[in-house]
Amino acid sequence: ATKPIVNLGIFVADTAYRADRMPKMGETILGKSFVLGPGGKGSNQSVASAMAGGKTHFITRLGDDAFADIARATWAKAGVVPEVKIDAESYTGAAFIFLEDATGNNAIIVSPGAAGRVSVEDVAEKADLIRSAAVFITQLEQPIPAAKHGLEIARAAGVTTILNPAPAATLDDDILALCDYVTPNETETEALTGLPVTTISEAEIAADALLARGVRAVVMTLGDKGALYRDKTRSVHIPVISAGKVVETTGAGDAFNGGFAVALSEGRDVIDAVRFGCATAGISVTRPGTAPSMPSRAEIDALLAKS
Ligand code: RIB
Ligand code: NA
Repeated sequence: ATKPIVNLGIFVADTAYRADRMPKMGETILGKSFVLGPGGKGSNQSVASAMAGGKTHFITRLGDDAFADIARATWAKAGVVPEVKIDAESYTGAAFIFLEDATGNNAIIVSPGAAGRVSVEDVAEKADLIRSAAVFITQLEQPIPAAKHGLEIARAAGVTTILNPAPAATLDDDILALCDYVTPNETETEALTGLPVTTISEAEIAADALLARGVRAVVMTLGDKGALYRDKTRSVHIPVISAGKVVETTGAGDAFNGGFAVALSEGRDVIDAVRFGCATAGISVTRPGTAPSMPSRAEIDALLAKS
């Protein structure tokens, strides 16, 4: 049997507000719609992985409250195996998601709550699980020392490591050196490197800066320009794989990372794995929501077969 994917990160309830524009400070405006649904990058990626056919375990903390019920129902439906501590001293977090009606572009405030208290000890308790994985993947919404410890355990056991460095942050070289793949978008790359990323050639220069800091390979997601794969010997630009009209891009990066992890766990060539991630993201942006927009394996395979 294929070894599992282990994801460490956060779940929050996404509260998405659609309006013509953002209110100014002190102003109230009428919105066009409101949707409550499951979110958080680690949870979204886990849902994407499980739906794409990967046996997926998700390490996090939840509060003891109603939003935690949304998490459990979401994971049960998608087939994600929860590796969860209930932290009754905190709360299950939430994200405020502003959606610009005309474009589907977003701005987000995420308060991680209990998942923001995931500790190095929490990760150490899951060391055997991490060592048994094909792929270990994490992000930067929970404390960075926890992410680093997970990457250390995985690296020492020869497990493939992915760091999705989101949301944007600066990072020490010692964490980057634990990564087989880092998967930043343009903004996150700019934060990591201090370099501009507005064109493919700038993306290549910024990727080289990350390679020089110890990352084995960079997979940069570039929105409607697709993705860039770059390691010390290869540089490949993979165009977007479109599945139709874009309605909401929130969670597209999570769809990409979840799909990419599944394809790697199946031993596919890395460029095929990037294309698999692009197809997963390509479908997710044609649907509203984050986790609820993740496609099934059959949908991904069908899109790849005709692209
Ligand atoms: O990547 C999208 C996610 O980021 C949203 O689901 C939101 O919860 C934030 O964590
Ligand atoms: Na979506």
